[in-house]
Amino acid sequence: MRQPLTATRSQPLTGRVRVPGDKSISHRALILAALASGTSRIEGLLEADDITATAKALAALGAEVARSNGAFEVRGQGVGGLFAHQARLDFGNSGTGSRLMLGVVAGHDMVAEFTGDSSLCRRPMHRVLAPLATMGLRTNAASAEEATLPLTVSGTRDLIPIVYELPVPSAQVKSAILLAGLHAPGRTSVVETLPTRDHTERMLGQFGAEISVEETEEGGRVVTVGGDAELGGFKLKIPGDPSSAAFLVAAATICPGSEIVIEGVLLNPTRIGFLETLREMGADIEVLNLDEAGGEQVGDLRVRGAPLRATRVPPGRAPSMIDEYPILACVAAFAEGETRMEGLAELKVKESDRLSAIATGLAACGVAARIEGDDLIVEGSGEVKGGGMVETHMDHRIAMAFLVLGLGAREPVTVDDTRMIATSFPGFAELLTKLGAQFS
Ligand code: S3P
Repeated sequence: MRQPLTATRSQPLTGRVRVPGDKSISHRALILAALASGTSRIEGLLEADDITATAKALAALGAEVARSNGAFEVRGQGVGGLFAHQARLDFGNSGTGSRLMLGVVAGHDMVAEFTGDSSLCRRPMHRVLAPLATMGLRTNAASAEEATLPLTVSGTRDLIPIVYELPVPSAQVKSAILLAGLHAPGRTSVVETLPTRDHTERMLGQFGAEISVEETEEGGRVVTVGGDAELGGFKLKIPGDPSSAAFLVAAATICPGSEIVIEGVLLNPTRIGFLETLREMGADIEVLNLDEAGGEQVGDLRVRGAPLRATRVPPGRAPSMIDEYPILACVAAFAEGETRMEGLAELKVKESDRLSAIATGLAACGVAARIEGDDLIVEGSGEVKGGGMVETHMDHRIAMAFLVLGLGAREPVTVDDTRMIATSFPGFAELLTKLGAQFS
């Protein structure tokens, strides 16, 4: 049963909060802990449906994952040590979990069925299966180009190392190849022309793999992992997810008179394109208590309400804010002038076709928006009418973005279903309510 929710124009938001742990790091922490020899302890793991699916998949392959004194402990099996005769792994809504785990299963002598919900089963898998097939993974996909889940895949202990240039900027594809590369003899390299989030390489380096990162003259990167790796058990504290914090930053910015602090947010340079863009638009965002934790930059964000002006977001910035376009588009509706977001082809293959879901949602809320090729253009006027019913298409970020829009709009905004919010940001509405937002 769908669970609609309505957001109404809010008083100024005030208070201090924390957001749940970073989703990308949470997936990787569980996976690397399962591939480590010994026990790892993970604090601040995101407890959301996407991460639960990865934890269950790893448990089905022999890793022991247990909660212990407010943290998670994982007893790993060593690189190449997972086992299953015939596993069925259900990744729910999670593209990251399924694609990263394809890289893991590739390096094991096992047969596994990968499946997920109807949104995940529509998403392209060829981008990850193509390089993994070159390394030795086999699948039952009828058409390699069109491959989608459910799929049965067979891994092998005899993977071949490769050098692979990413045809699309994707941290998921890069990570799947690097994870497979851990199991292959020799060196496996991924070349990316635009840098994507780099948690996999950072964490691999920290936990004992041989890893090198070279910057190319064109601004890209070559990431190389040494095969037949050994990873040690580790302790990790996961910082708050900047992609979740983005919704609170946006809400405080568009509700005049707001002042909030979001504590302990991950500020990795490959993840902060949204903050950079909002500042260009005139947002009042300050970083306090900048620190380093677990090999990552972390800080508190103080955000005050501010009037915004339109901007142009260049395509090269997309990888550093790829998940933030739904909320940026909603914020742009409150800015004076035309905001142009360029080079968004990747948005069409997210949890929904976000390009079209955003444009339709904005139209339902009285905001003029159009798609030109791969660009999204939002015409802001400083005021948003609202009053619409927004279709979320099983997409957590569409749901959250339009609820935030409703907090600043003249008339209430309803989203048709909020269930998917649990995949990445459980407690989203409760946290905003604590800051003074109104939902019904
Ligand atoms: C992620 C990479 C991005 C992002 C996703 C998380 C990751 O996907 O959209 O939410 O953790 O590697 P792509 O690799 O498809 O860009």
